Amino acid sequence: MINFREEIIKILDEKIENLNKDEINQMIEVPPNYELGDFAFPVFSLAKIFRKNPAIIAEELAGEIESKYFEKVENKSAYINFYINKNILAEEILKETIDKKDEFGKINYGEDKNVIVEYSSTNIAKPFHIGHIRSTVIGDSLKRIYKFLGYNTIAINHLGDYGTQFGMLIYAYKEWGSKEAIEANPIDELLKLYVKVNEEADKSKEVKDKCRYWFKELENGNEEAVEIWKWFKDVSLQEFNRVYDMLDIEFDSYNGESFYSDKMPALIEDFRERNILEESEGAEVINLEEYDLPPAIVVKSDGTTIYLTRDLAAAKYRHETYKPYKNIYVVGSQQSLHFKQLKAALKKAGFDWYDEIVHVAFGMVSLEDGTLSTRRGKVLYLEDVLNKATEKVTHILDEREEEQNIKIENKEELAQTVGIGAIKFQELFNGRIKDYVFDWDKTLSFEGETGPYVQYVHARISSLLKKGNFNIENEFEPSLLNSELEIDIIRSLYNFTDVVIDAHEKYEPYFITRYVVELAKNFNKFYNQTQILVEDEKLKNTRLLLCYGVKNVIKEGLYLLGIKAPEKM
Ligand code: ARG
Repeated sequence: MINFREEIIKILDEKIENLNKDEINQMIEVPPNYELGDFAFPVFSLAKIFRKNPAIIAEELAGEIESKYFEKVENKSAYINFYINKNILAEEILKETIDKKDEFGKINYGEDKNVIVEYSSTNIAKPFHIGHIRSTVIGDSLKRIYKFLGYNTIAINHLGDYGTQFGMLIYAYKEWGSKEAIEANPIDELLKLYVKVNEEADKSKEVKDKCRYWFKELENGNEEAVEIWKWFKDVSLQEFNRVYDMLDIEFDSYNGESFYSDKMPALIEDFRERNILEESEGAEVINLEEYDLPPAIVVKSDGTTIYLTRDLAAAKYRHETYKPYKNIYVVGSQQSLHFKQLKAALKKAGFDWYDEIVHVAFGMVSLEDGTLSTRRGKVLYLEDVLNKATEKVTHILDEREEEQNIKIENKEELAQTVGIGAIKFQELFNGRIKDYVFDWDKTLSFEGETGPYVQYVHARISSLLKKGNFNIENEFEPSLLNSELEIDIIRSLYNFTDVVIDAHEKYEPYFITRYVVELAKNFNKFYNQTQILVEDEKLKNTRLLLCYGVKNVIKEGLYLLGIKAPEKM
């Protein structure tokens, strides 16, 4: 596609000797409304060089510029405003629509560079609860975004499958556990054991010692300990995978904390050789004073390692294995200090690749009280929330069947697509750093800025294309798309790739969420105010082709959010 911005850079680069292309690019602005052009270039900084009043400079430069890509170039005080040639723009968009179909706007921006996205990272033997939704959904979306832009992505679930709590669980299982009960209801039973063993350990030093003993045995590879631990892992993963299936989320690797247990000794040795470990109250730490951070504990006084030690080993392993352009951790903002320490410790160790580490933090999700009846204990399971969303949508569809006296095809599948899509959409609607309150009514509404609304527009376009016997080979004429509403849509389609690029640069999927809502709204306006299936074949085909482009971009945008776009709704 023609890059109009680049055309402007080329033009200005020839006219202005004192600025290079990069500088010009930095200065180009997108005006707040199209009356001021599609792009604007401020000339204030040229006043000194040209020794003229900026408004005069702008006027003179604007007068000299002639390009088929811009229908108008004029100055407004000290700005040169560029108005894109709408016919060329329409032609470009329709060509891209035909050539790329449902890959409209896809480019190889990342040039196959490796990018690791770590997300979800649930904890074995613990509930997969509502709090995990953020990392899971934001991370999956970032993975899709990077992939779309031509990066080679590696999705990692850094399972919490190691640490002293597993000594506790092994002991608890041997003492009070039942194989059958765990098999029937793994997470609930393991959670019960965990709660009980914590209570007992608080009361008795003997229990505490036994828990420690079993963790040591696990570390030493004691067959029984390893077998029980593996089994906890298997049954937990079975539960988690059911939820990942519902969410349509996949990982390339489940290398979690335990995977690094045998990689830590060499790393610690390396740290010692590099002379960065200090003794502190019996522990070995990396002093991070120069970075204004508390010391990073690498080995505890009892000789065991901690969460951070495993992350240090993981970062190094990932670097060596994947040589990533970026190693992204999608983890809540409560762990910001941890990731600062991780990066600083690697820097201090002289690993010059420390900068590939990116902590993509996010705020907390809370629930309006009383709206969620399915509580097991005090934890709200993500699976229950997903099922409830599906149930609620099923109910809405039932009502619709009754009211309109129709039969909805594949109702079950549709309810799941819409229900789970709605939850993801809501999750990705705001900047990730903000805390937010989950609201059922807002999430599942078919109107307003919601997932179901966007899906509905997509399905509406599908049926319109069918009704109009759309065929991509029919004749069309770009210049027929000249109404305000049509041009708005064309501009929006033109911006799609840039929005995705912005989203990946800032690690903010919500740019795409907002974009698809805007596009869907613009389309609806056009749909309501324009007769699309007109007599004139060429006009009809051209408008349908535009609709087809919108449908594809909505579908792609939703895909990047991890949401499916149903053909019928
Ligand atoms: N399992 C951890 C938790 O639930 C998150 C892991 C984050 N990733 C990491 N590499 N430390 O809090």
